[in-house]
Amino acid sequence: MWRSWLARSHGVRKVAGSSPVTPTRKVDINTMEINIRNLKKEDIIKAAVVFYESFNSVGEKWTLAVSERRIEQYFNPESCWVAEVDSDIVGVLTAKLDNALDHLELYIDVLAVTPKLHKLGIGSKLIQTAENYAKSKGFNAVWLSASPGLQSYSWYLKTGFKETSWRALVKPLE
Ligand SMILES: CC(C)(COP(=O)(O)OP(=O)(O)OC[C@H]1O[C@@H](n2cnc3c(N)ncnc32)[C@H](O)[C@@H]1OP(=O)(O)O)[C@@H](O)C(=O)NCCC(=O)NCCS
Repeated sequence: MWRSWLARSHGVRKVAGSSPVTPTRKVDINTMEINIRNLKKEDIIKAAVVFYESFNSVGEKWTLAVSERRIEQYFNPESCWVAEVDSDIVGVLTAKLDNALDHLELYIDVLAVTPKLHKLGIGSKLIQTAENYAKSKGFNAVWLSASPGLQSYSWYLKTGFKETSWRALVKPLE
């Protein structure tokens, strides 16, 4: 069904203090080629637009500034990737080496795909890339935290992630 429509542009956005970051372009989803490569420093603003658009499309209020800060925080040219279609960045996955659960895992911080290109296999390709990288490094698992209240939770379960007995705890500071 989704193949019957033509995904339109990924939008034009202006990040404060910079030029428009994403060119307006039509993408034919029947023929589009998805290229996965490592995230580079110079991609961060475009990648932040993907976070911003993607999370806002599912009701999570991320600003561009928050998106950019989050990517900078996790930036690592070896364990972060972008998905490109026609040289436009349309998906981003940020991850880092971690040893919280079984002493050797890849922790996935954020995965996001441009809303107009959801459900076309881009998120799966990014996860697969992260898993292949983790395997090549001899890691035991990939892990992430997610809330059952969010749409992505069922997606992660479908993608092969299993629930654990761990819970996130937070203590608000007065
Ligand atoms: C979650 C997200 C990354 C998935 O990326 P995507 O490119 O749309 O996913 P894919 O196309 O690879 O999905 C593949 C399969 O999952 C299914 N799927 C997609 N969204 C789903 C959902 N919310 N629940 C269950 N299954 C879902 C697809 O139908 C497809 O199934 P099929 O192979 O049987 O046809 C994307 O929806 C997104 O960016 N969401 C907003 C940001 C977010 O919540 N990120 C995760 C938290 S960090």
